[in-house]
Amino acid sequence: CGIVGVIGKSDTVSILLNGLQKLEYRGYDSAGIYVNDQTGHDYLVKTKGRIADLKAAIGPDVHGTMGIGHTRWATHGVPSDVNAHPQFSSNKRFYLVHNGVLTNYAELKQQYLADVQFVSETDTEVAVQLIAKFVAEGADTKAAFKKALKLIKGSYAFILVDQQAPDTLYVAKNKSPLLLGKGDGFNVICSDAMAMVSETKQFVELHDQEIVTVQANQATIETLAGDVVDRAPYTVQFDESDTEKGGYPFYMLKEIDEQPAVMRRLVQTYFDENGQPQLDKDLLAKLNEADRLYILAAGTSYHAGLVAQPIFEKLAQIPTEVHLASEFGYNTPMLSEKPFFLFLSQSGETADSRQVLVKVNEWGYPSLTITNSQGSTLSREADYTLLLNAGPEIAVASTKAYTSQIALQAILAQALGQKRGVAAAESLPLKGQLGTIANTMQSIVDEKQEMDDLAKKHLATTRNAFYIGRGYDYAVSLEAALKLKEISYVQAEGFAGAELKHGTISLIEDGVPVLAIITDERVASHTRGNIQEVRARGAQVITIAMESVAEADDDIVFPDVEPLLSPLVSVVSTQLIAYYTSLNRGYDVDKPRNLAKAVTVE
Ligand code: G6P
Repeated sequence: CGIVGVIGKSDTVSILLNGLQKLEYRGYDSAGIYVNDQTGHDYLVKTKGRIADLKAAIGPDVHGTMGIGHTRWATHGVPSDVNAHPQFSSNKRFYLVHNGVLTNYAELKQQYLADVQFVSETDTEVAVQLIAKFVAEGADTKAAFKKALKLIKGSYAFILVDQQAPDTLYVAKNKSPLLLGKGDGFNVICSDAMAMVSETKQFVELHDQEIVTVQANQATIETLAGDVVDRAPYTVQFDESDTEKGGYPFYMLKEIDEQPAVMRRLVQTYFDENGQPQLDKDLLAKLNEADRLYILAAGTSYHAGLVAQPIFEKLAQIPTEVHLASEFGYNTPMLSEKPFFLFLSQSGETADSRQVLVKVNEWGYPSLTITNSQGSTLSREADYTLLLNAGPEIAVASTKAYTSQIALQAILAQALGQKRGVAAAESLPLKGQLGTIANTMQSIVDEKQEMDDLAKKHLATTRNAFYIGRGYDYAVSLEAALKLKEISYVQAEGFAGAELKHGTISLIEDGVPVLAIITDERVASHTRGNIQEVRARGAQVITIAMESVAEADDDIVFPDVEPLLSPLVSVVSTQLIAYYTSLNRGYDVDKPRNLAKAVTVE
């Protein structure tokens, strides 16, 4: 979910709506706003559906100078008008928006609110009714909010309005992200700076267990214990234009196209003029002491970790394990003596990853977050951060974050390898290679029609599809399949080529598309063998190959790059194939059903 708040602006309604539109990547099954004009009029509008539906539901009379808004990714309660936020107290005095999950809402309901008539199925309504109850018992709003916060367990980012004192937004967070944006004569609150960058570039990070009272001309941050906190704002590094589509029909296509530029920016940021990687010396020293690297991530970021595993082992000779964060936290493997933890997260907010980082910090092991999101939770809570600087990634299906995560990990691996005197790191002209890769990516995105044609020919109506590859290509085939299924709803699986014959080949029948990725010369001929096996059973085969291992009838052939880094290039064709499959099937490419971009619940 995503939340926004504004105070001190006459165009509050449009600022809230614009902000929610920018946060739609965080969930889009229902949305709502509450606004108050501070002269006795207030309005609550909420609806199942997207921000566009909310806009349509807002009448011309709805106006305000302060307000709150919410876009939802349902956890408790189906998407519906009633379950949409803001939730409110029975006396319609308190309005609350919430991102997160309250784990003890049922107990709180039973213990404190047995006589209250609930209208929604949400955990959030419990929180707002609880606040109203404490106020009814005599507490002022802030004290009641604090009292409720002390009882509430779970994750939350809250913005509360008291209709009887509409000069203040009451704000608090625990685990879920939240920022205070500072303006001249106004202030804003948002889950992600992207939502409010049109209003201000000055943001203050809010921390867990803080309570913030926000008025038009001032904002006070306090701990729940009552100590006032003075925290300086930081300036966000992007403009509103970076958050817009810029003539593209979908963000995903724009973000695919941006990949060559993102590669070049990484090279500029992380190499010195002699072509050597330049990274934080403390980080490298710490990493150098480690006997094993643990990479933790979810979704596409996990796949970027899988690609990086051999890169770390070859270039830096550090044993490397890649784990799904959601599994690791609860099924922790035996750790080495001196582990180092690397968190990969585009958003820097994924709750599954964060719960591992909390443990790592308790254990006292060193950690690094590689993220696209400056000031994010995972970045703040890890010892070190490396930024992808890929610009906002808005399409739910991740593309440029994946490739930039791989490239930045390669830079890190080379820097560590050089420190350790590993010959493979010393001899690899990584800076030049990444430049070549940027050009090669460019040549692929310039030939979009080819991918569109392939998608039309092979994937327009199929129910399922397979990606196969061996070695480095296997990791890519997992990501390629994920991309396809996320946005086109084609059931797709990525397989290690050799594994087909151990089971999956039973799924191959006439006409099933099998997409083979072939870049790794050690195994190319074996993958070709697997292609023959599926072809003999009726599959339609599409091949994506690197020039040195290509054959005359391959569908997509791209120039050679360093094999370890070939996933950076081969994946781009598969992103475009997924994009066009979704487009041709008539889906909303950027907002696939049921998904959200940043999942801040475990
Ligand atoms: C969500 C998104 C995925 C993403 C994953 C991890 O599930 O839908 O696209 O890969 O979270 O996100 P992160 O921000 O941690 O990379």
